Amino acid sequence: MPEDEWKNERPRPRVLVVGFVGHQGKEYLPIVRENADIVGGVDPAPAAPTLAAEWGFPHYELLGEALEKADFDAALVTVPHSEHFPVCAKLLAHGRHVIKEKPFAVTEQEARHLMHLAQRADRSVYTLLQRNFNPVFQFAQENLARIGDAYWFSYDYHFNLADPTTGWRASREQAMGGVLLDMGYHLIDVLSGMFPEPPRVHSAFVHHYQEMRERRLEDLVSLMCSYPATGLAGSLRISRHNYEKIEHLCVLGTKGALSVGPGVAVLHSTGGPPLERCVWKGPKSDAVRSMIAHHLGHLEDRYYRQDHFQRQLATVRVIDGIYRDRLREQDELAEQCA
Ligand SMILES: NC(=O)c1ccc[n+]([C@@H]2O[C@H](COP(=O)([O-])OP(=O)(O)OC[C@H]3O[C@@H](n4cnc5c(N)ncnc54)[C@H](O)[C@@H]3O)[C@@H](O)[C@H]2O)c1
Repeated sequence: MPEDEWKNERPRPRVLVVGFVGHQGKEYLPIVRENADIVGGVDPAPAAPTLAAEWGFPHYELLGEALEKADFDAALVTVPHSEHFPVCAKLLAHGRHVIKEKPFAVTEQEARHLMHLAQRADRSVYTLLQRNFNPVFQFAQENLARIGDAYWFSYDYHFNLADPTTGWRASREQAMGGVLLDMGYHLIDVLSGMFPEPPRVHSAFVHHYQEMRERRLEDLVSLMCSYPATGLAGSLRISRHNYEKIEHLCVLGTKGALSVGPGVAVLHSTGGPPLERCVWKGPKSDAVRSMIAHHLGHLEDRYYRQDHFQRQLATVRVIDGIYRDRLREQDELAEQCA
């Protein structure tokens, strides 16, 4: 049966939106509504009752209340990082699927715990990573083999925010990491889809603001990844306060190169001449729409679920490993200074 017909025959999933008043939650509301029935929203923010009334769904201040009163298949979770695990664990304990913002988890241990809870409940936990549904990144993935053996990548992702970070992202307890966890999760996930986990990663953590340094929340991170077995190496730079907003990935291979930026990916032959390009004019909401529809359409798909878990475990493990190495280095330095 064609995908569209099949989609039309399935009942619309019932979705609870958790953290719907925030930046991401609000962005997703119209798109979720296209694909599902929103049966309620949880958010303690003062603006929550008004927003829920405007959208015509019941508002709950606490998740426990929604679990008692609302009947739903899946929850869309867009809350600060420190709330991800407790919210997801509670949803899984009540037999609900989860579609959530990144990060899948903050540490490898937490990722494994979440996977265990999901498997025990036979429910999905899908992480929203829009680059996987962006035609430009899909082109890069599909054409990677055409550049021969990749031996170098370089990935830059910068925001040009003029002001210091505020809100939960400026709190160590709530953010649980700086730009590496927040913005870098997307990049590490893209690389997880292209290359194996890097056995060695050297990092430099840099701070624009003194208060972020004191809270151990990096404003900029530079990573050098090496894969001694294959000869591949690569570097990433991620920051919040650059002079321009930019995202660019370049991969060099023995037979060519790939260049990927927002809206355009180019496959080059060695030395430069472009062989093929993919241009995508967006809007971004199109990629978000297909991502949300895809996850809602695969809630019961155990194979897809397993693939997703393995990919997210790899992404979390890389980031967790970098933070752990950092802490170890700081402890060693403190010991030397003592
Ligand atoms: N994919 C992307 O490009 C992208 C962009 C921005 C944010 N994000 C992610 O989205 C998530 C939220 O970020 P944001 O920028 O929207 O934050 P935000 O502060 O704008 O929104 C968070 C919302 O969650 C609510 N909240 C807090 N604790 C809650 C709880 N226990 N139950 C229910 N609601 C709760 C807050 O009241 C707030 O309305 C984070 O995981 C972040 O990494 C992703």
